[in-house]
Amino acid sequence: MHDFKYVGGQLFCESVSVEGLARKFGTPLYVYSQKTLTDHFHKLDRAMAGVPHRICFAVKSNGNVSILRVLANLGGGFDIVSAGELGRVLAAGGNPANCVFAGAGKTEAEIEFALEQGVYSFNVESVPELDRIHRIAGRRKKIAPVAMRINPDVEAFTHSKITTGTHENKFGIPLEDVEAVYARAAKMKNLRLRGVQMHIGSQLTRVSPFEKAVRKVLPMVRRLAETYELEFFSIGGGLGIVYQPALASGQEEWWRLPGARDILTPQKYAASLLPLLQPLGLNILLEPGRFISGNAGVLIARVEYVKKTARKTFVIVDAAMNDLIRPAFYDAYHEIVPVRRRTGATLKADVVGGICESGDYFCKDRRIAQIREGDCLALLSAGAYGFVMASNYNARPLPAEVLVNGRKFALARRRQVVEEIWSGETIVPWLK
Ligand code: LLP
Repeated sequence: MHDFKYVGGQLFCESVSVEGLARKFGTPLYVYSQKTLTDHFHKLDRAMAGVPHRICFAVKSNGNVSILRVLANLGGGFDIVSAGELGRVLAAGGNPANCVFAGAGKTEAEIEFALEQGVYSFNVESVPELDRIHRIAGRRKKIAPVAMRINPDVEAFTHSKITTGTHENKFGIPLEDVEAVYARAAKMKNLRLRGVQMHIGSQLTRVSPFEKAVRKVLPMVRRLAETYELEFFSIGGGLGIVYQPALASGQEEWWRLPGARDILTPQKYAASLLPLLQPLGLNILLEPGRFISGNAGVLIARVEYVKKTARKTFVIVDAAMNDLIRPAFYDAYHEIVPVRRRTGATLKADVVGGICESGDYFCKDRRIAQIREGDCLALLSAGAYGFVMASNYNARPLPAEVLVNGRKFALARRRQVVEEIWSGETIVPWLK
C-alpha cells in the first residue's frame, strides 16, 4: 500500500531513514515516496485497462513540480483548477494537451491562458461560464474544447465539506438542464463539444455512489456522445484511501484488520464501473488525487514538549495546523507514529501544534507510542491535501518537501525563509 515501513525500529521511506532526512533537512518536513506514487498510478491504470482511458492527476492534491514530473513521466495527464496549477504543470514539463480545466470560478485571464496553452478540455460548470469561454475564444479566433460537468445529485457518503455531486453543492450543471446546455453550446461556433464530465465527491470509501452516479447519467451520456460526437467521459476522482493502517500498533498487516475487506480498491472500482463504461466506446478520463498521492507522503514533526496536566497529556510538536490543516478542518484522522520506536508503555495524548487556536491539533486523547522530547513523529497519509493547503498563519514558514526514490533523496522544495513571508508587503507611503 505504501513504502513507509519500520526496519529495526526505525521508520524508512523506501531505503532511506526518515530520521536521517529530518536531521538533514529539519522539521516540519514532508517526505514523499516516488515508488508509492508510481505503484498507485499503475494499480489504477491496470485496473482500468479494459477501456481506453487517461489518468488525469488532480494537481490540487499535491502540486509539487517533482511529483507532477513523476506523473507526467508515467504518461499521466492533469486535472487543474486554476491558471496557477496549469503553470505548475508547465513548470514540471507536463503537456497542456493532457490537461482538463475544472472549477466553478474560472476568470477571464485564466480562460485566456488555458486557451493559449491548448488544454484538452474546459470542464464547464455553468451557463455564464460557457458564454464567457465562447466570447473569449471568439475574440482570440480560437475553438475552445469543452465538456459540461454534470451534477447528478447523488449522495457520496463522505464528509459534508467534500461532497460535490448533490444539488446542494455549487458544482456542475443540474442533470435535468444538461441536454439544453449542450444544445445551446452546439450553436456556438467557437466551441468544440469534446466530452462530458462528473465528480461526486472525495474520499469515497464505497463503490456504490460511483456506480449509482454512472448508472444515473449513462443514458444521457450515450445520447450526448452520439448527438455531438463526443470523445470522452470523465468520471472524476474521489477514490478514498485507508487513513488507519495500524502501523502504530505494530500491526503492519493492515489488510488482516477487521473492516479491511471493505476498502475500496481499484479492482472493485473497475469491476463495478467497467461493464457500464465499455459499451460507450468513449475515452474514459479519471481525475484521482488522493488515491495516488495520499499515502505517498508523510509529515515529519519534532516533539518540542511533553506537557502533563492533571487531566491530560499534550505532545506539542513543531508542525501545526498551518502545515497540515486536515484534522482541524475536517476532523480528519491521520495515523501518528514514532520515527524511532522506543520500548515502554503507550500514552494517551493530544498531539498538538504551537498555534494559538484550540483547533490546532492532530489528534485528541489517542493512544500513541512512547515518545520523548526531541523525538520525531510521522503523520501518515499526508501526501494529498497536505502541503497544498499549508499557510503562513502565525508567520510560520512553509515546510520543506523531500522526494525519495529507492536510496536516492533530494529536496523537492526548500524550506521557506521566514523573511519571504512578508517580502511582498510594504509600509504604505503616508506611514513612512
Ligand atoms: N476532480 C474534481 C473536479 C475535484 O473537485 C476533485 C477534488 C478531484 C477531481 C480529486 O479528488 P480526489 O481524487 O483527490 O478525492 N481538501 C479535501 C479534499 C478536497 C477535494 C476537492 N476536489 C481533503 O483534504 O480531504
